[in-house]
Amino acid sequence: MKVLASAPAKIILFGEHSVVYGKPAIAAAIDLRTYVWASFNEKRAIKIEAKDIKVPGLTVSFSENEIYFESDYGKAAEVLSYVKQAIEIVRDEADKNGKGITVSITSQIPVGAGLGSSAAVAVATIGAVSKLFGLELTPEEVAKLGHKVELLVQGASSGIDPTVSAVGGFLYYQKGSFEELPVVELPMVVGYTGTSGSTKELVAKVRRNLNDMPDVMQPIIDSMGKVVERAKEIILANYDSRIKFELLGKLMNINHGLLDAIGVSTKGLSDLVYASREAGAIGAKITGAGGGGCMYALAPGKQSEVATAIRIVGGMPMITKISREGVRIE
Ligand code: PMV
Repeated sequence: MKVLASAPAKIILFGEHSVVYGKPAIAAAIDLRTYVWASFNEKRAIKIEAKDIKVPGLTVSFSENEIYFESDYGKAAEVLSYVKQAIEIVRDEADKNGKGITVSITSQIPVGAGLGSSAAVAVATIGAVSKLFGLELTPEEVAKLGHKVELLVQGASSGIDPTVSAVGGFLYYQKGSFEELPVVELPMVVGYTGTSGSTKELVAKVRRNLNDMPDVMQPIIDSMGKVVERAKEIILANYDSRIKFELLGKLMNINHGLLDAIGVSTKGLSDLVYASREAGAIGAKITGAGGGGCMYALAPGKQSEVATAIRIVGGMPMITKISREGVRIE
């Protein structure tokens, strides 16, 4: 028996970093997915194959006949720890400790780009392995286990990534709980700098800055929270889409400035943000932890111009859509 499950990437529309301090954030699933096949094996081992994880690098092999990891790419080792934890958590949940599991992964999501590739692979693995064991988990239950995986691997996480990946659509997220918002079809372009930042290090950097200068930093974090509240009001309001996009674009630009102020932007990210605005985007900002990774632009009627501008300044544009679907069994 072989089970195939998939889970989407996400972008954080508003509120990254401030969400770590209990402020709300708004995130959406997008139409890039990770696919995981799961089956039992006779060797009572965990076997992970991930031949097309989209990061340049090496083949990684793990010892002691316990874990075999085949990948042509580097950041593979990091992905491995999410997959391994996800399998073990579900195996414990199903009380089937000795069972050998083989998972095979293919992914459309670039690793380390701030698009939630680790959460997507964890969520898709939980989906596939739980189904293999005959567990019927709801997307919320998958999200909770995905958050547990992140905490075990990263040490700290708000849980927003696995929640969006498991549930799909548009979510307003705060302190572990979420509210589904109506899906607004945003004409956007995601721009990948081609470099990656470490979420763990960036979260630690913001915390250091906050500890060093709370009087300066706390109001910025508070403002980020207010940006998210305004964005939620606009998403829920009965405006026509032109007004909605204009107001959301304004908030994106403010949120980008605040993220720059807390120290998570880079020249590469700013280049893509300003090139997008000059090419006609109404708003453009970092998405995710920053330090490299991705930005996104809101560009009604100008998506191909913005994509070209991003490419000219050295980025990789992706014209993506919001995905209503979270984790699913294929
Ligand atoms: O690196 P990403 O895209 O998964 O962003 C993480 C978002 C942060 O707010 C920076 C951290 C978190 O745990 O919420």
